[in-house]
Amino acid sequence: MKLISPSLLSADFGNLERDIEMLNASECDWLHVDVMDGMFVPNISFGQPVVKFIKKYAQKPLDVHLMIMDPGRYIEDFKVAGADILTVHYEACIHLDRTLHAIKDSGMRCGTVLNPGTPVALLEDTVQLCDVVLLMSVNPGFGGQKFIENTYNKVKQLRALCDRKNPQCLIEVDGGVNISNASLLFDAGADVLVAGNAVFKSENPMQTIHDLKQ
Ligand code: DX5
Ligand code: ZN
Repeated sequence: MKLISPSLLSADFGNLERDIEMLNASECDWLHVDVMDGMFVPNISFGQPVVKFIKKYAQKPLDVHLMIMDPGRYIEDFKVAGADILTVHYEACIHLDRTLHAIKDSGMRCGTVLNPGTPVALLEDTVQLCDVVLLMSVNPGFGGQKFIENTYNKVKQLRALCDRKNPQCLIEVDGGVNISNASLLFDAGADVLVAGNAVFKSENPMQTIHDLKQ
């Protein structure tokens, strides 16, 4: 599968409705929504009220990436706000199995996110519960960072793990994705690519989304 999930973190927050309409008209598949708490990551972005607003205008699934400590506390809130896919960090969950089950039980698709320093092998006992696994290809917290090359190896390792334990699971990559690494990532086995700066800072975001899919 080749899906594109543009990250609204790089959108113009003063013209969010306009940028969401652009994504509705584009070939993108999901809208990536980055929620940051200033604890798990050094940055604070936005919370449920903004997600609710995004949902009001979006015509595609909301792929909500929680970069918050103990995300199990907020599953119902993000369900109500309109998340379709909810991903939580391995590093932020003491009870990952319980949290993934709770997301599924609430009717959303669930996923686990790994930081660049967290090995794929740690998913051995939870990958079968995941609809998606998101590999961070930068240290989370900010848009516009440089892509970490070791991600290609991790995508391949994860592909092998999914083939063995959960072939339906989608592999998503987030951080520093652009026109020059997108096809290499798809070739390595990625299914979904998140792109913030590459889309929103380009001359023609709709064309860039089209090009990323090729
Ligand atoms: C980083 C976020 C990413 C970010 C990607 O912490 O999770 O989704 O917005 O932005 P780019 O594509 O600019 O690296
Ligand atoms: Zn993200």
